[in-house]
Formats: sequence, C-alpha cells, structure tokens
Amino acid sequence: MERIGQGRTAEIYAYSNEHIMKLYRMDFPHEAVQNEFRISELAFKKGLPVPQAVSLIEHTTSRAGIVFERIQGITLLSLIIQQPELLEQLAFKMADCHYRLHCQRDDEGTLPLQKQILSGAIHNVQLLSEDDQARVLSYLTTLPDQQQICHGDFHPDNVMLSEAGDQYWVIDWMTGMSGDPAGDVARSWVILMSATLPEDIDPAIRMGFETARESLVEFYIHHYMQLSGITREAIESWMLPVAAARLDEDLPAQEVEQLLKFVQERIRLL
Ligand SMILES: Nc1ncnc2c1ncn2[C@@H]1O[C@H](COP(=O)(O)OP(=O)(O)O)[C@@H](O)[C@H]1O
Ligand SMILES: [Mg+2]
Repeated sequence: MERIGQGRTAEIYAYSNEHIMKLYRMDFPHEAVQNEFRISELAFKKGLPVPQAVSLIEHTTSRAGIVFERIQGITLLSLIIQQPELLEQLAFKMADCHYRLHCQRDDEGTLPLQKQILSGAIHNVQLLSEDDQARVLSYLTTLPDQQQICHGDFHPDNVMLSEAGDQYWVIDWMTGMSGDPAGDVARSWVILMSATLPEDIDPAIRMGFETARESLVEFYIHHYMQLSGITREAIESWMLPVAAARLDEDLPAQEVEQLLKFVQERIRLL
C-alpha cells in the first residue's frame, strides 16, 4: 500500500480509491484505537463532517488499524504552508469548522468528560510538583461544566479541505470528548502557539510557518469569538489546565520547555 500521510500516532496508507488504512505505530495501546473507532462512529452518526470509520482491525501480534473513508483533499496545515497569502481565509475556515462541532451536544453522555480527561492527565505530569498539580486541579473545578462535542486535538493537520475549498472534514477523533467549547478552543490555541513542525520539514517552510504562527492564532481566535459569542476571557480561563494537561503528552523537548514555562507563570498568577 502507498503511504499517503503520517502523524504522531499512525501512518496512513491508501487502501483503495475510496478508503485509507490508519495503521497505528507498534505497541500503540489497542484501547486508544478502539476509542478512536467508537468516537469516530459516534461523530459520523451525529452528522458531523467526519470520514466514516469502516472497520477496526486488531490482531494481538501486529499493529492495529482502522479503515476509514478516504478524503479527496488536503490538510489545512499543508494549505497554510503552500498558500500563506490565504492565511486569514484559512484561519476563518478553521474557526468555522470548529464552531460547527461545538454546536452539537453529547446528550447521550457517551463521550469521555473534558474535566476528567484533563484532571487525569494533570495527575500524571511528573514535571509539576504535587502542590502545583493540586493548585491547577482545584482551579479546574471552578470552570464551567458543559456537554458540547469537543474534538480534543483540533489543529490544522486534523482538518482537511476539498480541492475546491468548499467542503471540510475533521479527522483524528481519538481524543473526542464532551465539555466546554472554550476549553477545546484553548487547547487549539495552546497547540498553535507552541507546536513544532516535524523535524524533516524544509527549513524555508519552517521559517514561513513561524512568521505566520501569530497571525494564524489571532485570526482563528478572533473569528471563533465572532461566530460563537464566546469571550476571549472565557477561552483564556482554560489555558492553564489545558497547557498543564498537554505536558502529559510525548512532546519534543523544545515544546515541553516552552509549555512548562507558560504553566509555571500561570500558576504564579492564581
Ligand atoms: N480519511 C483520510 N483520507 C485522506 N487522508 C487522510 C485521512 N485520514 C488521515 N489522512 C492523512 O494522514 C494524516 C495523519 O492522519 P491522522 O489521523 O491525523 O493521524 P495521527 O493520529 O497520527 O495524527 C493526516 O494529516 C492526513 O494528511
Ligand atoms: Mg493527526
């Protein structure tokens, strides 16, 4: 099979003209793969713009995989890199797409809860002292409880646009959850401000992205606030727990350093 994409958790192969196979990295926990399958199915049934999850392939001795409907399109991240002059327009698409997910509720209560996911991750962060963990966890309890559909990892490499630019899909639903949209936007904000591009990327592209990074964040947040009526303060209020929880992920050293500094500064302001 031809490899057509990759991310931190998996490689993506062309399975047929209509389907792709998302093949998870060796030893990737099967429970997380089952979660992605279940949450993708749920999001699809809700009518969200998600590629249909067709089958879950699990053998105890080999890598797990999911066959998904194939999207004929390009990621928002690739478009931003290829056509930086369209940055504002693309940031608007990103905000619009995110807002549409948030308009749906998880009334059935089948998705994991945002606050539980965040607190579980914060408890695991060895880089924070127990006191600091406790401060962030106590602060988290003061934030609103909501039941809107949240993606949990919404960034430009998880949104795909059709070539005509009139249709989009959201992929990579492993972290889908039910919660406050402001928290989901705060996570996108944290990712946009701190995430590094893959190491093998062309240095010129890297520089181009670094120049665009701040404007991308500003356009995205601005458009999201306009569409949703949610204030910047509401989004900002989630930044600390979301950034602290992200420290539980397997991130490049440079990102860890930057995030930790951010988290420690915010803890001081509590
Ligand atoms: N259904 C799909 N159709 C076409 N390309 C896809 C599809 N799903 C993923 N891809 C491509 O593979 C890349 C990685 O997929 P993703 O599900 O985000 O993996 P990871 O969990 O490792 O981030 C995407 O950015 C995209 O380029
Ligand atoms: Mg991804």
